[in-house]
Formats: sequence, structure tokens, C-alpha cells
Amino acid sequence: MPSTSYDEKYAYLEQRIDALKTNKTGDERQTEGEVFDRKTLMTIYTFMKRGLIDKVHYPISTGKEGNVFYATDEDGEPVALKIYRTSTSTFKRVSKYVEGDPRFKGTTGNRWKFIYTWAAKEFRNLERYYEAGLPVPEPIANDKNCLLMEYIGEEGRPAPQLRDVAMENPTEVYDEVVSFIIDGWRDAHLVHGDLSEYNILMMDGEPIVIDVGQSMTSDFFNAKDLLDRDIVNINRFFKNRGADIIDPETIKEEVFAPEDENDDDDSDEEEYAEEEEE
Ligand SMILES: Nc1ncnc2c1ncn2[C@@H]1O[C@H](COP(=O)(O)OP(=O)(O)OP(=O)(O)O)[C@@H](O)[C@H]1O
Ligand SMILES: [Mg+2]
Repeated sequence: MPSTSYDEKYAYLEQRIDALKTNKTGDERQTEGEVFDRKTLMTIYTFMKRGLIDKVHYPISTGKEGNVFYATDEDGEPVALKIYRTSTSTFKRVSKYVEGDPRFKGTTGNRWKFIYTWAAKEFRNLERYYEAGLPVPEPIANDKNCLLMEYIGEEGRPAPQLRDVAMENPTEVYDEVVSFIIDGWRDAHLVHGDLSEYNILMMDGEPIVIDVGQSMTSDFFNAKDLLDRDIVNINRFFKNRGADIIDPETIKEEVFAPEDENDDDDSDEEEYAEEEEE
């Protein structure tokens, strides 16, 4: 790529990021804490050069840790661009999740490095879930504080969060979510760690799980506590919606059941589950 000045790149981005037109704040343009600081802009620029993004249209969500944008790629296909804020407050909020996680060793003193590691972790977790066939957005690319993934929703209408949806058959949806917990642990070797009605989108009546940045591998020292919490949260929500709830111990028996060649659901799960639980 011939070297292009920042101003040229910015002019290019300005044509392709609608939000920039209203965000420009004079010479310094962006200040810390805004979504599009210079480093973020340049990351989006590289995605554009790779054809992964053609245009960034509008924010789907503006949260405390980051924003998610509706974007389209070279072929006009929708994609979701999640951009983590590199502000001190994000850093503080997120740090509590990574205690004891070896992947974050040496990054906690450097805010940028730390957030990049966090975004990379969310990307890797998405890959793990996706490759194991679990219902998550397909991961597309990750660089620095940006994560590009499959857009869940229809044009102009992102899929709603589970909490905002009236379910015709809550037990059916509940069973899907319980399967996500069980298969997530058994097949992707992950525990979500923040599973709730906020982090599940509903697309054509099916739950799709998002926000997997804090997910941990099942061998992590407190993975079982995270599992318990996920089950409690999901059971609480679905109980209020009138679903037939499965006892947490029964769910965990399935989670910890040994591999079974003939995939027979009601074999000797109980005795093995007891061993696992100590
Ligand atoms: N792939 C996607 N397709 C469509 N919408 C998405 C996608 N990913 C996220 N969203 C929307 O953006 C919101 C925030 O995403 P996510 O939960 O991953 O971020 P977060 O870090 O938890 O942000 P917040 O602090 O707002 O909760 C989601 O609730 C959802 O509405
Ligand atoms: Mg969320």
C-alpha cells in the first residue's frame, strides 16, 4: 500500500463512516473516550482495505464497554462491528474478570494492550463456540480493539434481546439455552460467564448467544462457579416467563456426564455426576 497521509485516510473514512460526519470536533477531531479515536479509525481503515468493511452505517448499541455498529462489507452484506472503548473506566470494569487468567499476564499495566487482549479473547471464544456448532454470530475478523462478526438481524432491524421478546413457547427457547450451556461446556469447553436475557438475541424464534468476552475455558479454576451463576440467571428469567425449569443439579449432571459412544441420553449419568461434584 503506498503511504497515505492521515488526512487522506481520514477523508476516505469520512465518506464511509456516517458517524464521523457528525462527530468531527475540529483539529484534534477525536478525544479519548470517544468511539473513534485515531487508533480505532486506522483499524477500521485496515478492515476497509481488506474489503471486510465498506461502510459503517449506524450504532446498534452504545454501551459502557463499547459500541456495536451496523456495517456492510464489499458485497453490501451486513456485518456487526464491535468496538471496545480503551478508556480507563472500561479497563477498570473489565479487569475484575481476568484475575487468574494467564492470557492477561503482563497486560494489566497497559490499558491499550489489555483491551486488545480482551477483544482478542472475545474473538477466540466466538471461534470456539462457532466451530463447535453453537449458536453464536460467526466471527469474521479481529484487530486491536475491533471485532467484526456476523450481523444478527434484518436490514435496519437488529435482532432484539431475549428480555424484549414475547415468547410463544418459552419452554422451547429455555431448552435451547440449556443446550447451549451443556454443549458449550462439553463441545466448546467454555462457560459463558455472563449468560442472561441481555446477552441472548432472538432471531426467527431461535436464541443466539453474544458477548462472550468474559467466557472461560471449562478447566479455569472458577469455571464451575460461573456455570452455576449462568444456570441460576437463566432459570430465574425463564421461570418468570412461565417455562418448565430444569433443576440446576440435573443440568449439571448432563454437563459433567462422560463422553458416551452411542450418545444414549439416559445412561449412568448420575453416578458419574456425583464423582465430578466431590
Ligand atoms: N452480532 C450482532 N448482531 C446484531 N446485534 C448485535 C450483535 N452483537 C451485539 N449486538 C447488539 O449490541 C448490544 C451490545 O453487544 P454486547 O452485549 O456484545 O456488548 P457489551 O459489551 O455487553 O455492551 P453493553 O455494555 O452495551 O452490554 C447487544 O445487546 C445487541 O443488541
Ligand atoms: Mg452485553
